[in-house]
Amino acid sequence: MNMIRCGDYEALSHAAAEFVARQIKEKPSSVLGLPTGATPLGMYSRLVALCRNEALDFSGVTTFNLDEYYPIKRDDRQSYYYFMHTHLFSGVNIKKENVHIPNGETADPEAECAGYERRIAQSGGIDLQVLGIGQNGHIGFIEPGEALESATHVTALTPNTIAANARFFESAACVPTKALTMGIGTIMRARKILILVSGKEKTAPLQALADGKITPKIPATILNAHGDVTLITDQPAF
Ligand code: GLP
Repeated sequence: MNMIRCGDYEALSHAAAEFVARQIKEKPSSVLGLPTGATPLGMYSRLVALCRNEALDFSGVTTFNLDEYYPIKRDDRQSYYYFMHTHLFSGVNIKKENVHIPNGETADPEAECAGYERRIAQSGGIDLQVLGIGQNGHIGFIEPGEALESATHVTALTPNTIAANARFFESAACVPTKALTMGIGTIMRARKILILVSGKEKTAPLQALADGKITPKIPATILNAHGDVTLITDQPAF
């Protein structure tokens, strides 16, 4: 695992955006896997600036988001659909048809997950998967202790994740209890992985990741079995 230690969140965001921009320049038709959460916000705003000021070109890029709450309406301000359009897609020249986010409105979540997995395969697979990490070590919404399902699936959120994400909702009771998420296999099939770890709440999962062990109790540690992972952290996390 390549580790890049940054002094603060701003430096982390800058390094992450440069990493993604390099991928797009090297392969303008890149397929990107993208995360939500507070951590990638700085990276997204920097990517928008690079697109505006330095003509970073998203016109050939295809994206697949990691996950979405279930059920949730697209126009709900807490949906990942809303998040991604607000923070990235509205600011870059990506084609609408190249944006993929699991559909939190579907009446048939199993079929949605199977279709999502098929669309990733049809696109040629993910070139670069960007990840954040949950306080309990989850990636996407792959929760600790959950059978490590390989494909996109429906999952139940743990009380820890509901509590951690409640800051974005009116209360914990408003956080959906389920989600649609890429599976471990979906993530591990990406050719390259970039994981961003910021803040003192992430020290424990960062330590586990850096130790090199693999345990389903801390889903992110599976990344130690991937051959091309870059980890960018900031000072408060280590
Ligand atoms: C959510 C997302 C994850 C994300 C995590 C951490 O649970 N499903 O993909 O990594 O939050 O978010 P934050 O960066 O806000 O700590």
